[in-house]
Amino acid sequence: QTDIPSLAEAYADDFPIGAAITPEQTEGPMAELLKKHVNMLVAENVMKPMLLQPTEGQFRFEQADRIVEFARENGMQLRFHTLVWHQQTPAWFFHDREGKRMTDETDPAKREENKKLLLERLENHIRVVVEHFKDDIKSWDVVNEVVEPSDPGGLRNSEWYQIAGIDYIETAFRAAREAAGPDAKLYINDYNTNEPAKRDRLYELVKELLDRGVPIDGVGHQTHVNVDWPSADSLIESMRKFAGLGLDNIVTEMDMSIYAYNNRSDYGDDIPEAVIQKQADRYREFFEAFRDNRDLVSAVVFWGIADSHTWLHDFPVQGRTDAPLLFDRQLQAKPAFWAAIEAAKS
Ligand code: G3I
Repeated sequence: QTDIPSLAEAYADDFPIGAAITPEQTEGPMAELLKKHVNMLVAENVMKPMLLQPTEGQFRFEQADRIVEFARENGMQLRFHTLVWHQQTPAWFFHDREGKRMTDETDPAKREENKKLLLERLENHIRVVVEHFKDDIKSWDVVNEVVEPSDPGGLRNSEWYQIAGIDYIETAFRAAREAAGPDAKLYINDYNTNEPAKRDRLYELVKELLDRGVPIDGVGHQTHVNVDWPSADSLIESMRKFAGLGLDNIVTEMDMSIYAYNNRSDYGDDIPEAVIQKQADRYREFFEAFRDNRDLVSAVVFWGIADSHTWLHDFPVQGRTDAPLLFDRQLQAKPAFWAAIEAAKS
């Protein structure tokens, strides 16, 4: 579709519009769609530790560099996702030099040694990776999904946490600042940041770290929502709370499942018209809220661009397809796209 407006142009005065992509999507019809509608990119997977340093000391940048190259050629900004996560991290990070899982260690002296080794590996990963991308990337997800209100102390009980406690978060931000320099923007990224329990624990954590001088510039709000999600107000309210700490806010991974959380049905290729319309209405509401609060929202990044490719196929129901984005499986604009365009003008 060449005769439709550009989403990025519609929001040019407000904030950049982004999308998470795979290296393959930098070619063919998907690339054309991206060039027209987005001016910011993030790698859906290929900048995660598992893909960048699968074996200790052996960095692989080819896949990630395809995305960097595509962004350069088309004058798009880039975001980095992610320096630290509890998923998609190679197992070697968490094994000692003898090959024993660090989380199995009971000897206090060895546990101390393991913690030191893990943090050294983390610093090294960050130094090499940031050095590689820093000329092209100014916006970094440093840690991802570290808060989990139902875990002890409200921090995710990941291998990172079990081995190094809260120190891995502090180390990651300090190493990122050192390597990326003072102008880089460093984010703590998480989902359901509108929920009071998540939001408040995240707020406490960030405040504690800032008080200790840890360099955090902003909060990434993933914004994986669904058609029955609460009003956009709860998200804006959360952003306002973090802005009160002097922090920047980004919508980092937006998509909108056509299924409510407890809905296990599967519409297949026959999505009811009413659901498509409801999705458009909900997207309109979110984009009106983003536009009305553009002083708070510094970018809106989708987790994908068209329904042909989304992590929500198979999630949480194996074999089920979803349709969470603004373009359909044939890359055609959906009612949700037009709603987002109208929200820019209204
Ligand atoms: O590349 C391998 C392939 O070689 C292998 O044969 C195949 C078999 O399973 O797996 C492929 O890797 C998959 C990878 O995506 C690339 O397609 C992984 O299994 C799969 O788990 C992985 O899923 C990604 C997921 O993060 C990992 O948990 C999704 O694509 C990605 O969209 C998703 O992104 C996350 C954000 O990073 C953080 N926030 C939530 C968001 C959605 O879950």
